[in-house]
Amino acid sequence: MLVLSIFVYKYQGISQEKSTINEEVDYLVNARSSTNVTLRQLAQKSQMKIGTSVLIEPLRKDAKYREVLAREFNTLTPENAMKFGKLSQERGNYNFADADDIVAFAQDHQMQVHGHTLVWYRNLPNWFKDRQFSRQELMDILQKHIYTVVGRYQGKVNSWDVVNEAVNKDGSFRDSIWLKTIGSEYIEMAFRWAHEANPNARLFYNDFEAEDLGKKSDTIYNLVKELRRKNVPIHGVGFQMHTSIKKPPNYAEVAANIRRLNELKLEVKITEMDVKIHNQPVAVTLAEQAKVYENITRICLAAPNCNTLTTWGLSDRFSWIPIFYKSPDAPLLFDQNYQPKPAYYAVAKIVAR
Ligand code: XIL
Repeated sequence: MLVLSIFVYKYQGISQEKSTINEEVDYLVNARSSTNVTLRQLAQKSQMKIGTSVLIEPLRKDAKYREVLAREFNTLTPENAMKFGKLSQERGNYNFADADDIVAFAQDHQMQVHGHTLVWYRNLPNWFKDRQFSRQELMDILQKHIYTVVGRYQGKVNSWDVVNEAVNKDGSFRDSIWLKTIGSEYIEMAFRWAHEANPNARLFYNDFEAEDLGKKSDTIYNLVKELRRKNVPIHGVGFQMHTSIKKPPNYAEVAANIRRLNELKLEVKITEMDVKIHNQPVAVTLAEQAKVYENITRICLAAPNCNTLTTWGLSDRFSWIPIFYKSPDAPLLFDQNYQPKPAYYAVAKIVAR
């Protein structure tokens, strides 16, 4: 009970009735004091990849950030540094300083890098604005971009989100500049060019709210099935898994979706997981959040074609969620002060099995 009170105090569980705090919270709280191996060590044992997205500012300025990053994770994804608009501020010019530093950190600490992302409808270079490109011109731009970026990191970055978020909620293809100007073949072209630039790279299609079964994930399934049939070099599908305790994933459907992709011989990675709690953390919401992380980790590891869990941010201090949704939240495994949260122990519990 003493440990529990400390826990409740720590997470501002202020007026939570002790009777509403279930056994799960008790378990997670106790786990906290008894664990002394890191998530990375556990993951290494079970050949699992545990990752986080990385922002350049805290990587440069915050020693604690670097310490937790290297201690707890064995793979990382640059959160913004490899996006087209970040890399190329002027046509024909690239600035790789931030991306290089992130990749160098990974190399120094024996971590893998998952590249993110080559083709997206957002974060386009400024020089795209108010410009009309012909089909051939845009194909040349995209090919050159993919060759430049994938080629530069060959050997250091051997998996990539090639195409990001190309499908709408209703299952139609997103009306991006790529689709409008090149046509739906841009997807196939991007995968082929990425493969040419680095034949050893594992190439992924990545999207959000397509983890369950439904119109969107059906379109993605049919897309990747067609790509496989045509021998386009694609190796997997990224499930972003931006989710929430209010609307948790349908677990049976997530498992079924991973299974049908396995039948196509495709890998699944959980690429950008966060779990919104929609406010400041209290013990009960943290326990609910832990449950969502736990279930997804269990489902991924139970599948023969899934062994990567990456969260979209290292600690609540740097999550994109409160900024993007303009409301306080705490969606990650580590709190504002880099302390592991119940979700951390819930993931560790599954990885340790
Ligand atoms: C987000 C970053 O986290 C923010 O820092 C940035 O301002 C916008 O992009 N899906 C993706 C990611 O594939 O690239 C997005 O990252 C989050 C949603």
